[in-house]
Amino acid sequence: MERRNHDRVVRTNTSSGKRARRGFANRLLTLGTLAVTAILVLTACGPDVLKPYSTTSPASPTADGIHSLYKLVFWLALIVFVGVQFAIIYASLRFRKKEIPANRPPQIHGNSRLEIAWTIIPAVVLMIILVPTITTLYDQDAALDEPDLVVDVYGKQWWWEIKYSTDNGQGGEELQVVTANELRLPVGKNVKVRLHSNNVIHSFWVPRLAGKMDVVPGHVNEISIEPEETGTYAGECAEFCGIQHAWMRFLIVVEPVDEFYGWVNGWREGNLVATTQDGDLPEGVVRAPEAFSICLSCHTVNGIEGSSSLAVGSPDSLFAGINAAAMYGPNLTNLGCRETLAAGMLVNNTENLTQWLLDPGAIKPGNYMADVIGPGKSGELTDEQALEIAEFLESLVPAEGCTGTGGGASDATPAATPETSSAAVVARD
Ligand code: CUA
Repeated sequence: MERRNHDRVVRTNTSSGKRARRGFANRLLTLGTLAVTAILVLTACGPDVLKPYSTTSPASPTADGIHSLYKLVFWLALIVFVGVQFAIIYASLRFRKKEIPANRPPQIHGNSRLEIAWTIIPAVVLMIILVPTITTLYDQDAALDEPDLVVDVYGKQWWWEIKYSTDNGQGGEELQVVTANELRLPVGKNVKVRLHSNNVIHSFWVPRLAGKMDVVPGHVNEISIEPEETGTYAGECAEFCGIQHAWMRFLIVVEPVDEFYGWVNGWREGNLVATTQDGDLPEGVVRAPEAFSICLSCHTVNGIEGSSSLAVGSPDSLFAGINAAAMYGPNLTNLGCRETLAAGMLVNNTENLTQWLLDPGAIKPGNYMADVIGPGKSGELTDEQALEIAEFLESLVPAEGCTGTGGGASDATPAATPETSSAAVVARD
């Protein structure tokens, strides 16, 4: 009786085992099909779709060096992976038993040959990776020794401030150009980027041009970029730094050398803006809308008359008692030429800028501007005021127009081109 019951149990187990195996095979087939489809779709989308944050299409010697290491590690890891999988499959097929043996198998303790082999093989693999890694590190450090241009980049919450410092190509001149979220670089020049933070840790990452480098408060890290081709490259913050970490993106716009200096000069000439609301203005000077005064508590424009940006720390300021350095907003010079607003979040055009000014907290919750501007805040703007400020800011372009890809804004916004702009912008000596 007992014996018969036992047989039945074994038979049931065998048929459910078969079913489980079939289920497993089906799942494997589905997963495989999905993986192949995903690969085909991604490949069909073409490299352009994958390029923005791709580490496999380097466009600078720094990124190239990192990519070579990546390839080396990838192929070594693939060999190890295939070897281990082969060993697992071989062992499970070769030594499988249909029935559980009555006695325990012989118990083994240690195998010197095996242990020596699995110590030496990984050591050799690690040495193969170690040597070129150290060489690459030293090469990249050496590139920092003789830069053509030094740029200081400050990680903010949540945007990037960019200050152009020493230009060795111009006899060590301090360029003193300040901008945000859009790093313009001359093609073929060796640029040293110094990374600063006065708040939390960020990470500066432009996959196609450079490695990833942490931006640490109280310590200046350096990274070198030598872009080989003109074009626009995507960058982002790669270290979680608060609620808007995902929207801490930036662009690197690589331009021919003369175009780059055209842009530098355009910035240094600035935008001739008057904040006074009375009287006639000299030819070429633009009057800022009255409501723009609230923006000047945190922002400034190069060339503006009566900028109150230095009043940030004063007791009358809106931000009295708040850490002025952390609150200080992006420099708005030639804003009409920028591709994006709010650190890569919005396309730069009048409509988006108006929405942003009406309620920045609804678009990018947690940003510091939302403490002041927006419904119910001390700096609440009317629809007309927001539109007025947006049109004014989009009109801030250099006399010669935008260079590089800066067309993003001017294409989308007729107000940003000098011809249609109500605000003429003239060069300053
Ligand atoms: Cu800054 Cu993440």
